[in-house]
Amino acid sequence: MSLRDQIDMARLPQHIAVIMDGNGRWAKEKGKMRVFGHQNGVVAVRDTVEGAVELGIPYLTLYAFSTENWNRPKLEVYALMELLVSTINKETKTLMKNGVRLNAIGDLKSLPPKCYNELQEAIRKTSENTRCTLTLALSYSSRWEIANAAKSIAEEVKDGKIKLDDVTEELFASKLCTAEMPDPELMIRTSGEHRISNYLLWQLAYSELYFTQKLWPDFRREDLQEAIIDFQKRERRFGMTSEQVN
Ligand code: IPE
Ligand code: IPE
Ligand code: MG
Repeated sequence: MSLRDQIDMARLPQHIAVIMDGNGRWAKEKGKMRVFGHQNGVVAVRDTVEGAVELGIPYLTLYAFSTENWNRPKLEVYALMELLVSTINKETKTLMKNGVRLNAIGDLKSLPPKCYNELQEAIRKTSENTRCTLTLALSYSSRWEIANAAKSIAEEVKDGKIKLDDVTEELFASKLCTAEMPDPELMIRTSGEHRISNYLLWQLAYSELYFTQKLWPDFRREDLQEAIIDFQKRERRFGMTSEQVN
């Protein structure tokens, strides 16, 4: 039975979040510069997005650049930003063809203007697409996002727009960058690292975590399918007992 046939289409995760990790190590294994790994990471992004669209996953969120990644060598940061611009530019057509709406979360204003503008343009062009929302986390960190949400709520309380008692989990979630999407049900990290690296800390509260040794440039739709099959074998209890959820 093919991987695809093993997937229960009635129980697909509605939102999959991915930490695309291992580009540098992939390049190093081949005796190449880290940037070569990032370039080949684009191939994996394309295949994963197509794999998600093909299955009918409504939300896919990819961690592309963290706030902490700004601390990498200048040359690598520059190359990543250049790659982002050229990729968005090249891939917009494919996003349109596949009905993918592009979205971005993070401190986007901190991106180089060329990147920011290219991104906004692609977001605008694809805004009517409805098959899948592809969110890129760029210059993103969860602590930044949570601190921002707290600040915006504090401001509303101070200005008398809301009362202290209005501050609920729902209100808090509505102030996060992900307000319009369901929480990820499945989070995949490649490259064998078992950590969250400041990604969607609030939203991952009850996500199933899936780790694979594969380095990101080698990740393909079949790997996504394997992760989904694994996800579907798990029992999600949300604090209850096994008997309760069955
Ligand atoms: C992920 O790969 C891409 C980014 C973080 C931008 P890495 O660049 O982190 O690759 P490794 O982890 O060093 O192998
Ligand atoms: C997390 O990967 C960020 C992205 C994939 C964009 P890192 O490679 O930056 O994470 P750490 O430093 O290993 O935790
Ligand atoms: Mg890494």
